[in-house]
Amino acid sequence: MGTLRITVAGKGGVGKTVVSASLARFFGRQGHNVLAVDGDSNPVLGVSLGVPLAQVAEREPIPTDFWVAVEKIGVGRVAILTDDPEILTERHALQAPDNVTLLAARVEANEGCTPAAQVRSMLGNMLGRHGFDRVITDFEAGIDEPATALGGFFNPADVLVVVTTPNPIAIQTARKIIRIAREAEVPSIVGVANQLTSGRDEFEICRGFERAGVECVARVPLDETIAHADAAGASPLDGGHSSPALDALLALAQRLERDAAVSAA
Ligand SMILES: Nc1ncnc2c1ncn2[C@@H]1O[C@H](COP(=O)(O)OP(=O)(O)O)[C@@H](O)[C@H]1O
Ligand SMILES: [Mg+2]
Repeated sequence: MGTLRITVAGKGGVGKTVVSASLARFFGRQGHNVLAVDGDSNPVLGVSLGVPLAQVAEREPIPTDFWVAVEKIGVGRVAILTDDPEILTERHALQAPDNVTLLAARVEANEGCTPAAQVRSMLGNMLGRHGFDRVITDFEAGIDEPATALGGFFNPADVLVVVTTPNPIAIQTARKIIRIAREAEVPSIVGVANQLTSGRDEFEICRGFERAGVECVARVPLDETIAHADAAGASPLDGGHSSPALDALLALAQRLERDAAVSAA
């Protein structure tokens, strides 16, 4: 079984964290060994994954003695992991349900270390080779992290999942991210339309993706199961709910699995 690294990007508030957590848990349920990488500087992916808030809040940042900054010709300063990734996960990971391991990639500031986005992209890249066969990276909101972390030596994405809501600024942000990902030669880019309330919403988003040359592979409705779980500081995947949004997110996970199987064949 090959490895698959999926990275989730989009404007703030579009649902990146909900999508990342759902993909991670569904892949785990399918028997994969999943690493979830939280790229948010205020890491909260753990809550959507079903880790108690207190545990998520208590976790220390990853210290920079795990990394060394090196100069690479044509690449600039690049962070390299100096210790065994297994030590990193042992010390800094949290265990979430469904065989998901979470690493929050908040990194202690240090002059010797390159920007956090590169370190995070490295986590998304290197740990895929150390026992994890699915790595899901939840990017920081906006276009800076895609611009810094995608492509090149430490590209963390076999598939970039670009999420947007019907909000025109969110759609525009999605298109900017798609442009960046193309330039970075990310192998596959797909679109997800989230928080849909009407056919009009869906039309606007799908047209935006189409113009950017990207297929909209999931249409996720606005769904109170998701909002209620968030308000309660819990995962929408716990509590045995079934809901239209969770159904759409499960279908997304299955679609990404199918695509990966086809491209591996
Ligand atoms: N399909 C949906 N239906 C209802 N609420 C949603 C849906 N997707 C996301 N949300 C809510 O929108 C907010 C932002 O989602 P989140 O995943 O945190 O976005 P991001 O990580 O992109 O900032 C959260 O309160 C979340 O519960
Ligand atoms: Mg988020």
